[in-house]
Amino acid sequence: MAHRGWFPDSIVGELVVLRRHVPANLSAFRRWYADPQVARLTRYQDGPMSWPEIERFFHARVLGQDSLALAIHVRATSRLIGTCALSQLDGDNGSALFHITIGEPDAWGHGYGTEATELMLDHAFERLQLHRIGLSVFAFNERAIRSYVKVGFSVEGRAREAVWREGHYWDELQMAIIDRDWKARRGRSRLTTQDSEPSLAEAAQSATHASVAPAAGGKR
Ligand SMILES: CC(C)(COP(=O)(O)OP(=O)(O)OC[C@H]1O[C@@H](n2cnc3c(N)ncnc32)[C@H](O)[C@@H]1OP(=O)(O)O)[C@@H](O)C(=O)NCCC(=O)NCCS
Repeated sequence: MAHRGWFPDSIVGELVVLRRHVPANLSAFRRWYADPQVARLTRYQDGPMSWPEIERFFHARVLGQDSLALAIHVRATSRLIGTCALSQLDGDNGSALFHITIGEPDAWGHGYGTEATELMLDHAFERLQLHRIGLSVFAFNERAIRSYVKVGFSVEGRAREAVWREGHYWDELQMAIIDRDWKARRGRSRLTTQDSEPSLAEAAQSATHASVAPAAGGKR
């Protein structure tokens, strides 16, 4: 279960702001997850979710404490365009799974999802001190794979012919990023948070001028 203290009020990037979800976001979820284009990219089932399924998903996985879900808003306009989450938070092993859906198709391809992913990884590794973030993606979802590779995920596995779509079986890729991969790249991080506290790693660095302990220190 995701501890409430793990939820920031907001995480501010250059293009997007991540904010806590509010109950009124359900109407956007109804639209997004009823869209066959979104379903094609995000579901094993060949077709969109029903409204009762969307409501159950929203209350359990978005508002509930099973995962750390945040709404994605365009920073310039505040428009709500999607959702992203860390689920299966495992404190013993410092791991979680990442999920993202930009539900408004006209907002695809503008860099919003890639930046939202970077902001979530920064939160996961710098604040929560997690060690490993994994995800699954269908092999035909080239935009998503490109976005994940850009932020530092690498392909670790392939479930062959795991999903049937448009008359073919497609592989599903397992991708992951480890905290030391992220920290090696983090010079280009653009994270600012509303409370502007230093991250745990920044606090440790300014106190000791030492580099952040990797792997073993990542457990929580
Ligand atoms: C996947 C997703 C999060 C990516 O976010 P995004 O903001 O659209 O991605 P970006 O605009 O940063 O584009 C990422 C890369 O894909 C490329 N790209 C954009 N459209 C593309 C397309 N149709 N095909 C292939 N690559 C594409 C971009 O050029 C960019 O690469 P580059 O910077 O090297 O040029 C977002 O598109 C989304 O939520 N899609 C619908 C749901 C989904 O697929 N979720 C993921 C399930 S695993």
